[in-house]
Amino acid sequence: MDKIVIEGGRPLEGVVKISGAKNAVLPILAATLLTRGRNILEGVPKVRDVVTMIQLLKSLGAEVESSSSEKIILDTSCAENPEAPYDLVSTMRASCLVLGPLLAKLGRARVSLPGGCAIGARPIDLHIKGLESMGAKVWLEQGYVHGVVDGLKGTQFYFDTVSVTGTANLMMAASLAAGKTILENAAKEPEVVFLADILNQSGAKIEGQGTDMITIEGVSSLKPIECRIFPDRIEAGTYMIAAAITQGDVLIENCIPHHVEPITLKLQEAQVDVEVEKSSIRVRGGRFLSAVNAKTHPYPGFPTDIQAQFMALMTLSRGQSIIMEKIFENRFMHVAELKRMGADISLDGHTAIIKGVQSLSGARLMATDLRASASLVLAALAAKGQSIISRVYHIDRGYVSMEKKLSALGARIKRVK
Ligand code: UD1
Repeated sequence: MDKIVIEGGRPLEGVVKISGAKNAVLPILAATLLTRGRNILEGVPKVRDVVTMIQLLKSLGAEVESSSSEKIILDTSCAENPEAPYDLVSTMRASCLVLGPLLAKLGRARVSLPGGCAIGARPIDLHIKGLESMGAKVWLEQGYVHGVVDGLKGTQFYFDTVSVTGTANLMMAASLAAGKTILENAAKEPEVVFLADILNQSGAKIEGQGTDMITIEGVSSLKPIECRIFPDRIEAGTYMIAAAITQGDVLIENCIPHHVEPITLKLQEAQVDVEVEKSSIRVRGGRFLSAVNAKTHPYPGFPTDIQAQFMALMTLSRGQSIIMEKIFENRFMHVAELKRMGADISLDGHTAIIKGVQSLSGARLMATDLRASASLVLAALAAKGQSIISRVYHIDRGYVSMEKKLSALGARIKRVK
């Protein structure tokens, strides 16, 4: 298994270009199942999760005509197999996004239950309840969610908890249902808005995306999708923090500043110099870093996907900061590893109390999940001495060529077998 070796203590300087958003392309790939024909996606980030989703679509009968650098052409004319197998679903939770489209188009689905993951139990009960209220019969058998329906019907559904994947799944299903669906307490994430906009381009009738009430008037069919994926806000936020933590000066190009506003504001509160342009952000870290508190929330709140990276930054702040994780019950896996680097962090349930230290020291570290791994890379870039991070396949799930991008910014980082 690959490892990443980092010699820390060097300020990052230069320009980094952000890739397409992983969390935007996965629902769009699932949505291609609602169509019959050639779907063309551009600006696709070549990360492991995207490769897994493409494998899943192939196993459902889709044909991939081309998957050159950042462009994918996917023909769904023959995607008639309703079974998403355990081997693929178990490696990526977002696979459950095929449930809604399969039921809507084929009237049947057999999708392995994703199960827990490193950051918590992460159930899909709301997806199932929503599909049931659209008339589907859904049951669990041998670890698989089975669903059948003789045509989905519009419904009014309230999400007890804001769910990004749940909103996407039901919105896709409702696009081909008979009649009107109203989703209440829906997710407002940019990835959900993008999915709605792209479905509308293909003939869907969706309104209210970006608010907590989405209305979908079902249509009988959708044209194949043609789109370009927008830049990844979590990748952008990660490089913003990389600049800050190394006291560097980095221009982050190809990003949508509005999408990263909660991160920009927190960095500015911590006295980091952040200059926002139309599609780029320049971040300059200084010696003085104030301790600030953060609490994760659904969009437009502070993203759970940046919590670990921000905590790495706060380990080097002056003072004490409190970070609360409000979305997932077990998303502090990075804490034990950061402590091994000399960070002073104590945990109390969903709350982490971080007392800033003068410096971190390099160590042997273990990546545990995607964003926790990114936080370890950031801490290692700032630390004194060498860090060796193992299990880096987590990073490959969601970051395009992270070590190459960091190396171009002057980091001493290499991947070893
Ligand atoms: C979540 C994040 C998303 C992030 C992704 C990967 C939020 C609101 N969502 O999306 O920003 O990119 O993780 O880290 O910030 N839940 C249920 N039942 C369900 C579905 C969800 O109880 O059927 C709960 C989950 O356990 C969790 C919360 O709702 O506590 C949000 O889950 P959800 O938004 O669905 O997770 P993701 O779509 O993976």
